[in-house]
Amino acid sequence: MPTKIVLNDDQIPQKWYNIQADMPTPLQPPLGRDGNPIGPDDLAPIFPMNLIEQEMSTERWIDIPEPILDAYSLWRPSPLYRAKEFEKALDCPVKIYYKNEGVSPAGSHKPNTAIAQAYYNKVFGIKRLTTETGAGQWGSALAMSCARFGLECKVFMVRISFEQKPFRKLMMAVWGANCVPSPSEETQAGRNVLARDPNTPGALGIAISEAIEQAVDDPDTRYSLGSVLNHVMLHQTVIGLEAKKQMELAGDYPDVIIGCAGGGSNFAGLAFPYVADKINGKEIDIIPVEPKACPTMTRAPFSYDHGDEAEMTPLMPMHSLGHKFIPAPIHAGGLRYHGMAPLVSQLAVDGLLAPQSYHQKDCYESAILWARTEGFISAPETSHAIAAVVAEAKKAKEEGKEKTILFNWSGHGLLDLIGYDKFIKGELTDVEMSQEELDEWTKCMEGHPQPMTAGG
Ligand SMILES: Cc1ncc(COP(=O)(O)O)c(C=O)c1O
Repeated sequence: MPTKIVLNDDQIPQKWYNIQADMPTPLQPPLGRDGNPIGPDDLAPIFPMNLIEQEMSTERWIDIPEPILDAYSLWRPSPLYRAKEFEKALDCPVKIYYKNEGVSPAGSHKPNTAIAQAYYNKVFGIKRLTTETGAGQWGSALAMSCARFGLECKVFMVRISFEQKPFRKLMMAVWGANCVPSPSEETQAGRNVLARDPNTPGALGIAISEAIEQAVDDPDTRYSLGSVLNHVMLHQTVIGLEAKKQMELAGDYPDVIIGCAGGGSNFAGLAFPYVADKINGKEIDIIPVEPKACPTMTRAPFSYDHGDEAEMTPLMPMHSLGHKFIPAPIHAGGLRYHGMAPLVSQLAVDGLLAPQSYHQKDCYESAILWARTEGFISAPETSHAIAAVVAEAKKAKEEGKEKTILFNWSGHGLLDLIGYDKFIKGELTDVEMSQEELDEWTKCMEGHPQPMTAGG
């Protein structure tokens, strides 16, 4: 068995897979303030129409334009590895495969959609993109993509990460983007939050409000989101489509699929092409993994909620901790989002996914074992997937079953070493939200419309 399976440039998928064509329960529509479904025109000040069409499409396959394929060929197809040394260290009856998305220029899966979004905005005539970023992976991916297609780029970076991760903002500067800490004084949304709490660590929901506000104020600017939305999940499916070809070459099929989930996109990218198989009768455990400090799918209600703090986005049907949620400052900045992609949420509600949550110290412990066996240093977000791989391997041993596990190694952690340093020095703490805190945060959704669930 080779250590890695690599495909040629001409094996990059030519189409994205749209799970909306196959879902047992169709996605429920986003709603406006009046509670009525919104249409494409309502989104036009925020996104270009070509992306809005993708957002709403139910076509199963969507062609990937040539300039996007050209850019993808810089790092795609990404290699599929067999984690042989990690398997030996675990000593469990499992084969472990992983897709290495850390090989992209920005170091994670995020450029799979950043390149596509920059391209569609460019052909629509847009000059400038605004966005939010947590850990900085998304901001740097969009900065790189805007440089490639000749767009200006403005990034609002959650303040705690801006301070914890100085090198990500420098990467964005190298690619020509302007990155500021959020909340900032540049927008009304930012000024409102700072007036209430000048020392706030910030949150993705606040940074999103700031980026949308600047986009709607300028006809040449649009907003770009790094996760959560349907078109983002769509663009990421190149990961799973490639993995399917590579697993076939390896002569294996996964029993378990795992990906960490912040807004849901790297998980969806790997999992959705396999969810299609599950819908058609295959037996697979498909596991999105989140932090116990931000337990969106494992503990929060499935409700209509806003995607941002200042309530500028439509209401979306999703698992949500409430749009006012300020997460604890755990190191996985990209997993500290209050909501979850509506597509992932609906599939979880329908029982096709089995979400799990882990404490950050368990994740770092797994990521250290990973680094000492496989060599690669994982992003703190990715370490959540590795913790779940360890748990599933141990479960297989207890059950006396042989299993094949496939997971998404969503990014490297070479710019996230401060978290590792704290873990090694024993300075990290685990945070678990109490029921009272959960009830308090979710109060802001009281009175929101409720999406339909089976039997009600
Ligand atoms: C390396 C990495 N993995 C995972 C995530 C989580 O995002 P998503 O759920 O959209 O994949 C992020 C977000 O910043 C990330 O940087």
